[in-house]
Amino acid sequence: MSRRKIVAGNWKMNMTPTEAVALVNELKPLVVNDDVDVVFCVPAIDIIPAMEAAKGTNINIGAENMYFEEKGAYTGEISPAMLNDAGVKYVIIGHSERREYFAETDETVNKKVLKAFEHEITPIICCGESLTQREQGITIDWIRQQIKIAFLNVNADQAKKAVIAYEPIWAIGTGKVATTEQAQEVCAAIRVCIGELYDAATAEAIRIQYGGSVSGASAPELFAQPDIDGGLVGGASLKPDFGKIVNYNK
Ligand code: PGA
Repeated sequence: MSRRKIVAGNWKMNMTPTEAVALVNELKPLVVNDDVDVVFCVPAIDIIPAMEAAKGTNINIGAENMYFEEKGAYTGEISPAMLNDAGVKYVIIGHSERREYFAETDETVNKKVLKAFEHEITPIICCGESLTQREQGITIDWIRQQIKIAFLNVNADQAKKAVIAYEPIWAIGTGKVATTEQAQEVCAAIRVCIGELYDAATAEAIRIQYGGSVSGASAPELFAQPDIDGGLVGGASLKPDFGKIVNYNK
């Protein structure tokens, strides 16, 4: 079985609604590739205008976060039903910036992952080690723990549909991309971990992205690795270079 590649942009806290429409219009002719699922994860306020602008294209509009309750007194949060109603099919869960600045933990990540599946939204589940952890030699142990907690009570059918983004924190927004060997090693270890938690078929089906300073120049080699099924892209997702990343195989 060969897994379909998935390239997702993570706009972070960039682009007003007006700018979002302009960016979708600018990028839409550049991100056509029948071999790849293309997702733009955008700020909540941009979802509806970006969705309109992307209508009739291959671009999926996703969210950058979601809360794990259905509705109610959670000022400032976005519910899964709101995302569903807007037509959102993908949501980033547990990005390292959310863990660092907004106190997200492996436990809240797990709650959000379960809630996303309940609403048939595909979670893009982020994991990654700090530079200190890498230097201490505990990268694989750390990532395995993040994955095991994120997937608690997730069943195999759900896990098969999940997307995992391996993003070494030291590589995010730094221009310091992990080497192909480093990225492949951890993505392969994640697949092994999923195989242990579930079975070989689930490990084979789940899609694992690499993220951290991916560019048009680095994407072809990264995405050619046996366990790397695409990328989660920050900075370059706001530029025409994103088209090169999506067309890494052309
Ligand atoms: P970057 O961000 O591509 O700018 O390093 C990746 C991410 O944070 O998802």
